[in-house]
Amino acid sequence: MASKTVVVTGASRGLGLALTTRLLADGFAVIATRRSPSPELTALAEKYAKLTLIEVEFERPAEAARLLAKAVGDSPLDLLINNAAILLKDESLGSLDIGNIRKVFDVNTFAPVLVSQALLPALGKASNPKIVNISSDSGIIGGVRSFNGLYTYKASKAALNMFSRVMRLELKERGVDVLAVHPGWMRTDMGGADATLSPDDAAKAILEAIKTYPDSGGGFINWQGEEMEW
Ligand SMILES: NC(=O)c1ccc[n+]([C@@H]2O[C@H](COP(=O)([O-])OP(=O)(O)OC[C@H]3O[C@@H](n4cnc5c(N)ncnc54)[C@H](OP(=O)(O)O)[C@@H]3O)[C@@H](O)[C@H]2O)c1
Repeated sequence: MASKTVVVTGASRGLGLALTTRLLADGFAVIATRRSPSPELTALAEKYAKLTLIEVEFERPAEAARLLAKAVGDSPLDLLINNAAILLKDESLGSLDIGNIRKVFDVNTFAPVLVSQALLPALGKASNPKIVNISSDSGIIGGVRSFNGLYTYKASKAALNMFSRVMRLELKERGVDVLAVHPGWMRTDMGGADATLSPDDAAKAILEAIKTYPDSGGGFINWQGEEMEW
């Protein structure tokens, strides 16, 4: 039987690399994105013939979506994990810059939406397809109670959550399950060295949680599969 196929975006490091490594070890075929050659992914590609690497820049989300659709081709796609993201620190209202806001929204919000749109025909050919948008508890509007120098990241994840929620309702009819996942605080370049979770533990838990998530759920969970408030 042909192996199931997964697309993972932002696979060069952090959670994306951990998800890609686990999925390959579990026998999936993975199409993974990177921006430039990454030694870890190159080593994985030497070990696993089922890894396809493509170079995409999500600051140009429409072009990235087209490249991904081309890489998937006519094959069924079982799982799309929109993981790539950027975070700007130390923002204040006075320092906000429209170019930077657009860049963060292009990568964190518009790319996941356009990639999902471009890959929907391929997802429609799989038997139990899923779109997983790696979001964040930073996107929970009601959870923001003190200022910590983040505007754009929080806004981009709140917008991603809304896209996920509406997409989930629309695509239910077509049998495509859409989930937003808060991956936990992870020891990555984004999460920093003090974080509580290794990206590998987060990846393992997320892949388990999405496997067993019920159709009746609200569609926003943490890495342990617990329901999150939008
Ligand atoms: N770390 C945490 O504690 C934490 C908490 C909550 C949510 N999250 C979410 O979890 C996901 C993974 O985070 P992480 O901690 O693994 O992040 P990370 O270590 O900073 O890795 C980010 C990944 O996204 C890629 N990327 C960034 N900008 C890109 C662009 N313009 N075009 C293409 N790829 C781009 C990076 O590629 P390059 O190597 O080319 O830059 C890298 O592969 C993100 O969605 C993040 O928001 C993380």
